[in-house]
Amino acid sequence: AFRLSYTLMRKRAALPPKGRSCMQPKIFAHRGASRYAPENTLPAFALAAEQGADGVELDVHLTRDDQLVVIHDETLERTTDGTGWVKDCTLAQLQALSAANGMDGFAGVRIPTLRQVLEQLRPTGLLVNIELKTSVIWYAGIEQKTLELVRDLGMADRVIYSSFNHYSIGKVRALDPSARTAYLYADIFCDVEKYAAARGVGGLHPGLWNVKMAEFLHTYLNSGLDVRVWTVNDPDDLRWLLEAGADVITNDPALAVQVRDGLGR
Ligand code: G3P
Ligand code: MG
Repeated sequence: AFRLSYTLMRKRAALPPKGRSCMQPKIFAHRGASRYAPENTLPAFALAAEQGADGVELDVHLTRDDQLVVIHDETLERTTDGTGWVKDCTLAQLQALSAANGMDGFAGVRIPTLRQVLEQLRPTGLLVNIELKTSVIWYAGIEQKTLELVRDLGMADRVIYSSFNHYSIGKVRALDPSARTAYLYADIFCDVEKYAAARGVGGLHPGLWNVKMAEFLHTYLNSGLDVRVWTVNDPDDLRWLLEAGADVITNDPALAVQVRDGLGR
């Protein structure tokens, strides 16, 4: 009952957002170009760059031997041929697994380290949204390790840190007040734009269904914070959001680029 009609959303999208520049909205490949290659793997990130994404989104966990790895779930069953928890495995154990996730043509694809992903992305110039996966397990030291790696690779100005665990974002800000940060959230959150601005957090990452309710999208856009909506895969949703000036996080960057080109932005 809360879902707005597409026509109504378009009307709302036509309202001029205050304080927004005419900058082209950005397209982030969710776990890489995960519609075309196994999520959170090196081929998925390479494809994102080839398809014209402006950035990628990825998920980070810590291994038993304190290595930063890129995988979505806390456990191995869904995306690999292993079992158990990421936190209970060493990097060597994880990298012996297949991360092909049932997709043809990706035999031999492994769980990458964050370093491997960043080194691959560095020459592309793409932005990197590092999602710290600290909602189920609050990995000790994950914020500091991630910041140090990013700094060592000279990529601080291209990285945006996000998390559903807002204390993790607080830690990132305490360690490096100049780090670009964003709050992830899935449901309704009173005055989230004020909450973020008051804490020096520059981005809002709402779930798609959240911005389909009430006036949330325009409240967020009018706040002047960066708005990156996840996970947007439907062409009508992509068109509506990109036209309104929101960035999108999508499994299908090729489609999003095509939609954005059609808007002439
Ligand atoms: O960062 C956006 C999105 O990835 C958050 O949800 O579960 O896909 O990591 P999830
Ligand atoms: Mg994620």
